[in-house]
Amino acid sequence: MVTRRVDLRSDTVTKPTETMRAAMANADVDDDVLGSDPTAFRFEAEMARIMGKEAALFVPSGTMGNLISVLVHCEVRGSEVILGDNSHIHVYENGGISTLGGVHAKTLKNNADGTMDIALIEAAIRDPRGELYYPTTRLICLENTHANCGGRCISLEYTDRVGEVAKKHGLKLHIDGARIFNASVALGVPVHRLVQAADSVSVCLSKGLGAPVGSVIVGSEIFINKAKRLRKTLGGGMRQVGVLCAAAYVALQENVGRLEDDHRKAKIFADGLNQIKGLKVDTASVETNMIFFNIMEGSMIMVGELCNILEEHGILMMPASSSSIRIVLHHQISESDVHYALSCIQQAVLQLQTETIGK
Ligand SMILES: Cc1ncc(COP(=O)(O)O)c(C=O)c1O
Repeated sequence: MVTRRVDLRSDTVTKPTETMRAAMANADVDDDVLGSDPTAFRFEAEMARIMGKEAALFVPSGTMGNLISVLVHCEVRGSEVILGDNSHIHVYENGGISTLGGVHAKTLKNNADGTMDIALIEAAIRDPRGELYYPTTRLICLENTHANCGGRCISLEYTDRVGEVAKKHGLKLHIDGARIFNASVALGVPVHRLVQAADSVSVCLSKGLGAPVGSVIVGSEIFINKAKRLRKTLGGGMRQVGVLCAAAYVALQENVGRLEDDHRKAKIFADGLNQIKGLKVDTASVETNMIFFNIMEGSMIMVGELCNILEEHGILMMPASSSSIRIVLHHQISESDVHYALSCIQQAVLQLQTETIGK
């Protein structure tokens, strides 16, 4: 029987805290589709303030936040968005921007640090004189932190430079900021400054911040008014949504300050993994709460087998490829959990290596 469970699959697995549950139970609510839920109103105003934008809108998920943002900026079908080939929007969001919005994706290679070369971005912008042939470039998307690139932070300098390129060519800039608070904390840059160059940002409340449901998009009043209409079109208008916003409000108050500790635990974890023969982490790439560790060639460890053995012991991790595994830290993983998980991983690796030698 499993006595202890350490869920390292994602920071989406957190459970609402007692304070969140109490806030949800006591939330003052009304019909938000009719525009009269006071808790939603208060939460959105606070998010707009924190992010340094005119307005904000609560949406059910990060995927919907990104979809709405791209569709608002690319409202004419046949528009093109420049985005990373390893970005969440491109890889994991069901191609919604094209299937639902008629938006064409111009993907550029994501570097290991989550950036795209600025020269490549500029070169990818379509020449308007070719309008008989080309889609029209309208938007650039960045992702910060970049999940598939290991939770790496996109720097302020880089973001500002991409913002300048966008401005120079009359384009909009959207940031998938699912984990933008992790980036802000790790870089030591206030979040409103980090996203200053962006026309819109989608922020997840149910990842490292630990709220049970929801994301928020921020931008200008005009952007948010259009976004509100699209949210309704997509079926994302929710009635007494203040119940969810109340939990998100607590998440902001309680958990932004804890992210630094998640990053510290990730570093301890990464160092520990590097002590286990057959495993390798590039510790320099562990900048926030994510770790991608590699199984070294010839180590006789199979990703699937390792994850299965560990699951039997209550340690849950996410295979990332045939030779790598993803671990994500969050506020409900303690330092003691980190050491416990490391000792289970060490034992599982030994077990696999001994079994293979014995065959
Ligand atoms: C970077 C990034 N963007 C967007 C999303 C989508 O969020 P959701 O699962 O709430 O749709 C995720 C989810 O993991 C993500 O990691």
